[in-house]
Amino acid sequence: MNSILSPESCGINSDLEKLSGVEKNSSGQNNANDSLIKIDHLVKTYKMGDVEVHALRGVSFNVSRGEFVAIMGASGSGKSTFMNILGCLDKPTKGTYLLDNINVGNLSRDELALIRNKKLGFVFQGFNLLSRTTALENVELPLFYNSTSTKLRKEKSIEALKKVGLAERIYHYPNQLSGGQQQRVAIARALVNDPSIVLADEPTGNLDSRTSIEVMEIFQKLNEQGITIILVTHEPDIALFTKRHIVFRDGKIKSDKSNSEPKNATEELKTIPSVDDEVEE
Ligand SMILES: Nc1ncnc2c1ncn2[C@@H]1O[C@H](COP(=O)(O)OP(=O)(O)OP(=O)(O)O)[C@@H](O)[C@H]1O
Ligand SMILES: [Mg+2]
Repeated sequence: MNSILSPESCGINSDLEKLSGVEKNSSGQNNANDSLIKIDHLVKTYKMGDVEVHALRGVSFNVSRGEFVAIMGASGSGKSTFMNILGCLDKPTKGTYLLDNINVGNLSRDELALIRNKKLGFVFQGFNLLSRTTALENVELPLFYNSTSTKLRKEKSIEALKKVGLAERIYHYPNQLSGGQQQRVAIARALVNDPSIVLADEPTGNLDSRTSIEVMEIFQKLNEQGITIILVTHEPDIALFTKRHIVFRDGKIKSDKSNSEPKNATEELKTIPSVDDEVEE
C-alpha cells in the first residue's frame, strides 16, 4: 500500500468530503453526473532521454457505479499505464480524470494517497504478498495506515478472508498456499478498506484455467454486491465473465462494447473437473 496518511492525522472523512464538495452546487446538492469514473482525453507521454513514448494518446470514457469492465489489447497498448492513472499511482500528462466527482489532477500527493486508501483496492498479476507474514497479516496491512485498533484490524481482515473463502487459511504463509489461494489473499487485502472500486491488472495471468475462473467467481460475487471492477486481461475467455469489453490499441480505445450476457463463473466451474490444489501442510 502506498498510503502515507492516517485518517486521524489528516481528518480523512472531512478531507474527502471537502475534495468531493468541489463539485457541489450552492444548495449542497451533488450536481455531477452518475459516473464513478469520468475520463476525458487522457494522454500519457513518458520521456526517456530525448525519446518520447506515447503510452496513451487521448483516451475518453466513463464508468458507472456497479460496472464490471475488462480492458484488453496487445502488449504495450497502454493498459497498465491507464490502470496506474486510474489507481492514482501516476498522473496523466494531459486530460482530466474525475473519480467520484473529485478532480484527481488537482490533488496533492497526500490527497492522492488518501483517495487510494479510501476508495480503491488493487490486485496484481504477481499477488505482491509479503512472504514472511501470514495471510491474516498481509490482509491487515492497509489498515495500519488508518490507525484502526488491533482488534478491529483483525476482525475486518478475517471478514475479508472469509469473503474470498479462506477462513481456514488465515495463519498460512504465502508459500503454504496455492497460487489461487495467494491471489485470494491479495483480493481480501484489496477489500479490507471497503473500496468502491477494485482495479486488477492481469489477476489471472499466473493461474491455471480452473483457478482463473475461481478468481473470476469471486470478482463476480463482489460485483453483485455493488463493487465496481476494472480488470485487465489478455485472455478473451476471462473477459467473457465481465459486462463490458474495452480494447486498447496503440494508446487509444479501439472498441468499447457491452457484454449483455456475461458467463456465470459458478456455473462454468460445475463443468470443469476439480483439481486438488491443496498445498501440503
Ligand atoms: N515507466 C515507463 N517509462 C517509459 N515507458 C514506459 C513506462 N511504462 C510503460 N512504458 C511504455 O508505454 C507503453 C505502454 O506500456 P504499458 O505497460 O501501459 O502496456 P500494457 O498494455 O500494459 O502491456 P502489457 O500487456 O505487456 O502489460 C509501452 O510502449 C511501454 O514500453
Ligand atoms: Mg501491463
